[in-house]
Amino acid sequence: MEKLVITGGKRLEGTIEISGAKNAALPLMCTPLLTEDPVILTNLPRLADITTLTDLLNHLGVTVTIAGGDGSGSGGRSLTFDASTIADTVAPYDIVRKMRASILVLGPLVARMGEATVSMPGGCAIGNRPIDLHLKALEALGAIIEMEDGYVRATAPDGLKGGAVRFPFVSVGATENILMTATLAKGTTVIENAAREPEITDLANCLISMGARITGAGSETITVEGVEKLHGTTHAVMPDRVEAGSYAVAALMTRGDLLLKNARLADMQAPLDVLAEAGAVISEEAGINGEPGGVRVKSNGHLKGFNIVTQPFPAFPTDMQAQFMALASVADGASVITEAIFENRFMHVPELCRLGADITVTGSSATIRGVPSLKGAQVMATDLRASMSLALAGLVADGDTVINRLYHLDRGYERLEDKLRAVGAQIERVND
Ligand code: UD1
Repeated sequence: MEKLVITGGKRLEGTIEISGAKNAALPLMCTPLLTEDPVILTNLPRLADITTLTDLLNHLGVTVTIAGGDGSGSGGRSLTFDASTIADTVAPYDIVRKMRASILVLGPLVARMGEATVSMPGGCAIGNRPIDLHLKALEALGAIIEMEDGYVRATAPDGLKGGAVRFPFVSVGATENILMTATLAKGTTVIENAAREPEITDLANCLISMGARITGAGSETITVEGVEKLHGTTHAVMPDRVEAGSYAVAALMTRGDLLLKNARLADMQAPLDVLAEAGAVISEEAGINGEPGGVRVKSNGHLKGFNIVTQPFPAFPTDMQAQFMALASVADGASVITEAIFENRFMHVPELCRLGADITVTGSSATIRGVPSLKGAQVMATDLRASMSLALAGLVADGDTVINRLYHLDRGYERLEDKLRAVGAQIERVND
């Protein structure tokens, strides 16, 4: 079993290159299903979730090849997705159970092929995560939905028709699914209470470059005029704001100074505001000589407690909650973190407490009383972002922190130990 061993106490300083965003890449990788032409995606991160979705696309008949170069090196990968032939419209349990985002093939498949069958999704164990909003939205466009043996089947024998979709609450995945689907539905679709996450805008920009007619992405109301056909494109995946935010926390926790190359301040305003309140000096750096710029996060020498409520974008993201809890664990004074998106997203709490954190959970709120220091111990990663919170805690804990179950971390952080080691961390992946 692979483990990460982190010896805490090193100040981090230098530049970390931020990879392409997993959460943007996954929906973008479903767009080729909407066209017979090849779609090239650049700046794709090398992550287990990307491999899982590639396997699923392969199963559906999509050919995935490396576009230019051999795909090695530190920059993102470029892949060509050729869905000229869809050989199968069934997304099987064995692949879908590994990753919840597999549900994103449902809409594009039914839009192009008139039918799709997808196993009910698995993914991170952060609460009961239903897909009812995805299915209701597809029904609003005329799809017939049936459930059988753990599979959901959507059919549209006479094609899909534009319709009115009003989400009762914000869902990133359901917005993405219906946005892709509506591009090929006849007539106009209006999506209200749409998610406004930057990944939605990235997806819409890719679809627009494929010939889709979309307005309002990034706002609460998105309008899509269906077109007969989409064509191929080349699109660069946006930088990962959660990866960047996680390293921003590392900079402050270690009283360090990191330039997060490629990161975009506007994508991360809410978490950066909290970091500034806690003791970070933040600046946006322009790129020089054609190089991309980034966000610089530097400690002002102090670390104060803070309060957070997770909410859809542009408010504080749930995907940063666990990392900020690690930060609060060593801040002066008390912090309160309320998780308002997922009902079971405090699984990192007992693990952080094993490292000496003082955290009390009441319902959906956690009160964290900062302690002067954490102590290294064996801990278990429970989900993707929880794993990162343990790595962050390990960076400042006395002695060695050993993180087990690394597959969670590998789903979302590309070359974590290389990136951290390059800025001064003592961190090793061991196999025993
Ligand atoms: C995406 C992100 C995930 C992030 C989450 C919230 C990807 C691949 N994943 O997940 O990292 O934590 O957004 O920012 O982009 N819900 C329903 N019914 C539905 C769909 C969602 O009740 O049909 C609920 C969920 O259980 C959750 C809330 O809506 O409580 C928000 O979930 P959603 O925005 O859909 O998250 P994902 O798209 O799965």
